[in-house]
Amino acid sequence: MPEKIKIAILISGLGSNMEALIKDIKKQDHPGEIAIVISDNTDALGLKRAEKLGVPAISLVQDPTAFGKNSFENQLFELLTSNNIQIVCLAGFMKILSSKFLKKFSGEILNIHPSILPSLKGLNTHRRILEKNLDVHGATVHKVSKDLDGGMILSQTTIAILEKDTPESLSQRLKPKEHQLYVQTLRHFLSGNSNIIQKLDLGH
Ligand code: GAR
Repeated sequence: MPEKIKIAILISGLGSNMEALIKDIKKQDHPGEIAIVISDNTDALGLKRAEKLGVPAISLVQDPTAFGKNSFENQLFELLTSNNIQIVCLAGFMKILSSKFLKKFSGEILNIHPSILPSLKGLNTHRRILEKNLDVHGATVHKVSKDLDGGMILSQTTIAILEKDTPESLSQRLKPKEHQLYVQTLRHFLSGNSNIIQKLDLGH
């Protein structure tokens, strides 16, 4: 049996994508192994969810006046390297990692973003898509690069926008599709498959 690839998941909030990833990673045929969940928010509900699933979950205290060894990114780097992490999955992790950190970390970092990138980088994508009067919304899994939400696209999923939709209803309908997409993309990525995955629902 080849050695499993060590994975860390970074969260800031609910952790529903995290939970979907952990449940799949724990399956015997998965090429990866979940080592740790790290949050930049002590109150993140995802921390409790990770613990329930038996995964070590740690929150890093964010002191904006801390520098050097105690800075958030240095603590994060230490945790990742001491756990031999090769792949980091950002799952609703809302902090932007600096290009210095990205250069230093030798593994790959993936992220899930709630829009059809390169459209709607940044925050509040559910509200912003409704303002555009479009028919289709979606989510993207991509590699993290120094350009915010600008790294190589690995997969995309879509949902049709309905007339009665609100930012909340879009988020609620998109989440289960995000879970499926992230789970499938991570397996794909770890097996070295570089084909882009498209899961399109054009509502016809
Ligand atoms: C997800 O919708 C994810 O796409 C988004 O945060 C949510 C986290 O939900 N990520 C971003 O906005 C990153 N810029 P979860 O905590 O339930 O997985």
